[in-house]
Amino acid sequence: MTEIPQNKTRRNAIFMKIEEKISAGKIRSRVDELAAQISKDYEGKSLLILVLANGGIFFGVDLLRKIAVPAEVECVRISSYKNGTTSSGTPEIFGNLQPENFRGNDVLIVDDIIDTGTTLRKIRDQIENFGARSVKISAFLSKRSRRKIEIEADYVGFEIEDCFAVGYGLDFAGKFRKLPVIGKIVVPET
Ligand code: IMP
Ligand code: MG
Repeated sequence: MTEIPQNKTRRNAIFMKIEEKISAGKIRSRVDELAAQISKDYEGKSLLILVLANGGIFFGVDLLRKIAVPAEVECVRISSYKNGTTSSGTPEIFGNLQPENFRGNDVLIVDDIIDTGTTLRKIRDQIENFGARSVKISAFLSKRSRRKIEIEADYVGFEIEDCFAVGYGLDFAGKFRKLPVIGKIVVPET
C-alpha cells in the first residue's frame, strides 16, 4: 500500500485528510449481499467463523448477524504491523488456537482486508492443518494489485485501489477504526 512517511506518525495522525471511498450505506448493502451468498452456499450446514482481530471485528460481527445458517464464532488476534503503519511481512498470531475447535468444521475466516495475502495464507494453512473440513475466506476489501502470495478470498466486499484505507475496522496506527465509512488517507504535502 502507499507507505505513509515515518514523520507522519501517531502524533500527527489527527492532521491526516480522509477521502471517503465507500459510504456506510454501500457497506451495509454489500454485507447483506455477502451474507445472503454465504447463507446460500452453506445451506444445510453450520459454520465456524474465525474473526481476525482487531481489524476484522466490525465486518465479522455485521456478517455474523446476517448469516442465516447456524454459526459459531472464534476470534484470534493477528498482526504484522510493527509501528502501526508498515507491515513487517511476518504476521504474528497472539494466543493459542485449539486444533480441536476446528477439526471437522466448515470454517470461514473473516478479515478486514486482503493485501499482500501473507496474513490470510498463514492462518488458512494453520486451520487446514488442524483438520477443518473446509476453509474459506471472506475479506471486506481486497487490493489485488498488491498480492505477493497466491491466494484469493472466496467472498470479497470490494476491490480497492492501492491506497492506505481506514474505517470499518481498518486503522492507521490504531486510529480511525471506528469510522462508519471506508476512507483513503491522503497524506498532506507538508
Ligand atoms: P497482508 O498480510 O499483507 O494481506 O495484510 C493484511 C493486514 O494488513 C490486514 O489484515 C490489515 O490489518 C493490514 N492492512 C493492509 N492494508 C491496509 C490498509 O490499507 N489499511 C489498514 N490496514 C491494512
Ligand atoms: Mg488485520
